[in-house]
Amino acid sequence: MIKNAASENLQNHPSTPANTGLEPSRRFCVAPMMDWTTPHYRYLARLLSQHTLLYTEMVTTGALIHGDTERFLRHDPAEYPLSLQLGGSNAKDLAHCARLAEDFGFSEVNLNVGCPSDRVQNNMIGACLMAQPDKVAEAVRAMIEATRLPVTVKHRIGINGRESWEDLCEFVDKVSAAGCRTFIVHARIAILEGLSPKENRDVPPLKYDWAYQLKQKYPHLEIIINGGIKTFEECHEHLKYTDGVMLGREAYHNPWLLAGVDSAFFGAEPPARSRHDVLRAMYPFIESELKRGVFLGHMSRHFLGLFHGMPGGRQFRRYISENAHKSGAGLEVIQAALEKVPESQQPVPTETAIRA
Ligand SMILES: Cc1cc2nc3c(=O)[nH]c(=O)nc-3n(C[C@H](O)[C@H](O)[C@H](O)COP(=O)(O)O)c2cc1C
Repeated sequence: MIKNAASENLQNHPSTPANTGLEPSRRFCVAPMMDWTTPHYRYLARLLSQHTLLYTEMVTTGALIHGDTERFLRHDPAEYPLSLQLGGSNAKDLAHCARLAEDFGFSEVNLNVGCPSDRVQNNMIGACLMAQPDKVAEAVRAMIEATRLPVTVKHRIGINGRESWEDLCEFVDKVSAAGCRTFIVHARIAILEGLSPKENRDVPPLKYDWAYQLKQKYPHLEIIINGGIKTFEECHEHLKYTDGVMLGREAYHNPWLLAGVDSAFFGAEPPARSRHDVLRAMYPFIESELKRGVFLGHMSRHFLGLFHGMPGGRQFRRYISENAHKSGAGLEVIQAALEKVPESQQPVPTETAIRA
């Protein structure tokens, strides 16, 4: 157990998962996204939905073990339920980092077996591990032994050269035999040579039916489907065949979507807030971050999509983009940007609530 003020503070927090013993619901999740699902985005997301399971950006075991651990694991208890995504392949290192996840109060620890970038392949991280089910299984076993937190795996349905249904089943067979109960399936293969990470999120075709078939073949496993999902209608369709949905880009570019999640997927009250109220509710957090020396632009880039599709939304975006990076920029920039958007009650989209 590591001893420092931040981890002890988080361990003592009443909603720390290891204290509540609660397994987070994965019915609706926001995907781990490097540079996007930062603590600032997550704080905003949590104001919009209490029940969505949020994921951190991927943190490598090397960064956690040899770098500034506390900086990489920094989060606010308000973000719970929150899963820490790890990148790595060494079982001992992953076990150590899974323990860190528990010590720091996360709700879940997730292993990245889906990221296709060259940088991570060289270090045996991400999608290239789809070719090494035994190694993933060994890592998962070690992680499970090291922590009380649920250990989950996010993966592709294959990689070039290992893209058959049998290959995928071998992966799931071995990793589930190691004790993993939850598989988050990005329903396309990754092509490890010749495509950029961005192209690898769009070019290989989506095969949702493979995720559905996994659920059929392994009904005792929790299967969460990911890739290209944009609307609640699509989510409800996927939920007929899988246990949960994970949205990435849409939840980032159009965060207001999250305001309808609690009613549409958890039968809970939608947060009765307008976009204006949500941003205002961020002020104390923004101010305390500014005091810590965080630049406004570093936080505000994650709010740019909040008024997506609304009258004044573009002006809001432009004002922040032009002013938040200026030296000394503070809360007044956000306040002035908010004034560009007419304030009216913008209830949670009824369409989403009706489909609950
Ligand atoms: C900017 C960006 C960064 C990403 N970083 C990660 C990451 O750190 N770990 C990971 O497993 N997937 C990462 N992904 C992939 C997403 O988690 C998700 O699987 C992918 O975007 C497909 O879902 P979507 O179509 O809903 O966006 C990233 C995606 C984006 C757009």
